[in-house]
This record gives sequence, structure tokens and C-alpha cells, in this order.
Amino acid sequence: MEGTIEDSSEYPAHVAIEEPRDGVSVEFDPRNLFDHLPPPSTSSRVKQIWAVGGGKGGVGKSLIASSLGISLARLNQKVLAIDLDLGGANLHTALGVDLPKQSLSDFLTERTRELEDCISPTGIPNLSLISGAQDAVGVANVGPKEKLKLLQKLRNVDADYVIIDLGAGTSYNTMDFFLYADVGVIALLPEPTSIENAYRFIKAAYYRRLWHSPSLRDVRHLIEMAMDPRNKLGIKSPSDLFREVNQANPGSAMALKREIEKFRPKLVVNQARTQTDVDIGFSVKTVCKKYFGTEMDYVGYLDYDSAVWQAVRRKRPLMLEFPNSRLVSSLDRIVTFMLKRYANQKIP
Ligand SMILES: Nc1ncnc2c1ncn2[C@@H]1O[C@H](COP(=O)(O)OP(=O)(O)O)[C@@H](O)[C@H]1O
Ligand SMILES: [Mg+2]
Repeated sequence: MEGTIEDSSEYPAHVAIEEPRDGVSVEFDPRNLFDHLPPPSTSSRVKQIWAVGGGKGGVGKSLIASSLGISLARLNQKVLAIDLDLGGANLHTALGVDLPKQSLSDFLTERTRELEDCISPTGIPNLSLISGAQDAVGVANVGPKEKLKLLQKLRNVDADYVIIDLGAGTSYNTMDFFLYADVGVIALLPEPTSIENAYRFIKAAYYRRLWHSPSLRDVRHLIEMAMDPRNKLGIKSPSDLFREVNQANPGSAMALKREIEKFRPKLVVNQARTQTDVDIGFSVKTVCKKYFGTEMDYVGYLDYDSAVWQAVRRKRPLMLEFPNSRLVSSLDRIVTFMLKRYANQKIP
């Protein structure tokens, strides 16, 4: 993501939308996307949106997203799982279902008008699915209008929880879906490339969050600079950004601090084999506090377990195929913890 400001450079500042449809305003500024979204309130149908991301493919996002979904569904919550890995959609596989005929691309390309028309059953009580597009549409290519339309719909589908499987990468669209969730989970493997990718993901989400913040509009140009590693002010780290913002406007520096405190992604270490692997979650938490000034919650780790591929091979969800495994109890524990700890957390 570094070095480009996708949404502000690729799109004109104001995108005119001819027909006001689905609550999308006639004209909106894609740079101020979140201004156009209704604030999550107790009146929206959906209690919470949970998103699962991570910088890289193969870190267990789909396993985690599907398992969170199944676990919530077994707690009598109505769940909609949605696959936003539009290039390499495989959430349906993790849920043990064949690729549904209808997919999110039907909605994004207006083949169907209602998001509800893309929903398929999973055979698991309380759990339904919107599968990812299979026609080579990457999520990075979804336009601002479609993104807004989808985000507006997500809070009012007929579900208690919406679980988003984000797919790999740190495109601005992926960041926006992550940031629009009430609870954002980052998955990582205990290996250097995955840890690096997780940091890249956190950094991208962090700057993107600041960039969106209405209280930081007057220093947005500085945030954009910070997102560009070759920026001419030499902003290399969040503390450099803070210094520049403070110089430009001390009031904005206070707002920046408040925004940073509100950013609290959750972390799951997947495929742990040793205590050292488990401890990586704590190190990442410490580094994030030191470097970004942000608190991450390490919500749990998952052991490496051959049950995962055995379940994949049998085309069955792990949660149902190996209900008594340690991995399943770890996943259930993570869900119970998140339900308890974040019950009232809404996108800040
Ligand atoms: N805890 C685990 N133990 C063993 N294998 C795992 C575990 N988590 C994931 N895997 C393996 O890694 C592969 C990738 O997982 P997946 O959830 O599809 O990742 P992503 O969605 O991030 O690309 C799965 O097919 C599975 O075989
Ligand atoms: Mg996946």
C-alpha cells in the first residue's frame, strides 16, 4: 500500500451518482467514505461486525472466520459470513459447502439489486454465507460507490453477527472493510514473513484509520505523507507524524492521540507449536505499543493441528468434524472471550 493514496488519487474528489439508490447519496466524496455511513447504533439489526484480516494468504483467516461464525451460530446467534477475498475466495470450503451459484460479485456488478439475493445457506443452523466473487475481481478493484453500497448494507442484514473474511493484502478497500468492523482480528503465523506482513497490515490500517478521521482533516496531508515512505518531510514513524502534526497544530496532535487510543485491533497467533510461538503474540503487542502507541489485544492462539487439513480434505468444517479437539475448544474460548470483552464495542 505504501506510496500510493489509492482513493484520493484514483478517484475524482466527488463522484456523482446519477440515481440515488439504496440510501447512497446523490453525490459523495469517496475520500470521506465513513461520513456517508450511518454510525452503528443500537437500532441497526446487526449487533456487531467482526472482520478477520492478516497481511498474507495462508495464515488461517478463513479457518478463523469460519470457526468464529460456527461458534457464534452454536451460541444461538444468527450469523452471516461473508467472503471478501474476492480473488481467492475459499470461505465456502472452510465451511464445508460447494461454491454457491450466487456470489458477492452479483451484488457488486448489479446483476442483483439486493445483497440478500447473494446469501446461501451453509447447512449449519443459524449460519449463512455470501461467497466471494470468482471472476477475478480483486477487492482492490471495487469502486467507491460499490464499497459504500456494501458497507451500508452490512449493518442491516438479517443477522446478529456479520463475520468478514478479508483476504490477503493491505489494499485500501481491505483496510476500509477492516476498519468498518466493530471488532477487527489480525491472524498471523509464528514465522518472520508472516510477522512482517502482520506489521505491514497493522501499519496500513493504523494510517488509514487516522486518514479517515474527521477530527484530523486539517492534517490529512501530513498523514498522507506518512503513508509514503519517500515523503519529503522525512516522516518515518508514528512519532515523526506526531511531531509534525504537533508543529502544524497542537490541537490536532491531541486529536491524533485520541484516535490512536481508539485503535485496538485483536491478535490471534495461528499454528503455534511451542511456547516461543505463543509468546510471539505478546511481543507483537509490546512492539505495537512502543511503535504505534496503540494497544492490541492478544485474544488467543491456536495450535498447529493436523485436524485442520484432515477436515479440509473431507470437505467438512473443522468445528463439526473434530468437535472435541483442542483447537475447537481454543476457538470456542476465543469467541467466549470476545463476546464478553467486546459485547458493547462499536466502531469508534
Ligand atoms: N491451526 C492450524 N493447524 C494446521 N493447519 C492449519 C491451521 N490453520 C490453517 N491451517 C492450514 O493452512 C491452510 C490455510 O488456511 P486458510 O484458513 O485457508 O488461510 P487464509 O484464509 O489466511 O489464506 C489451510 O488449508 C490449513 O490446511
Ligand atoms: Mg482465505
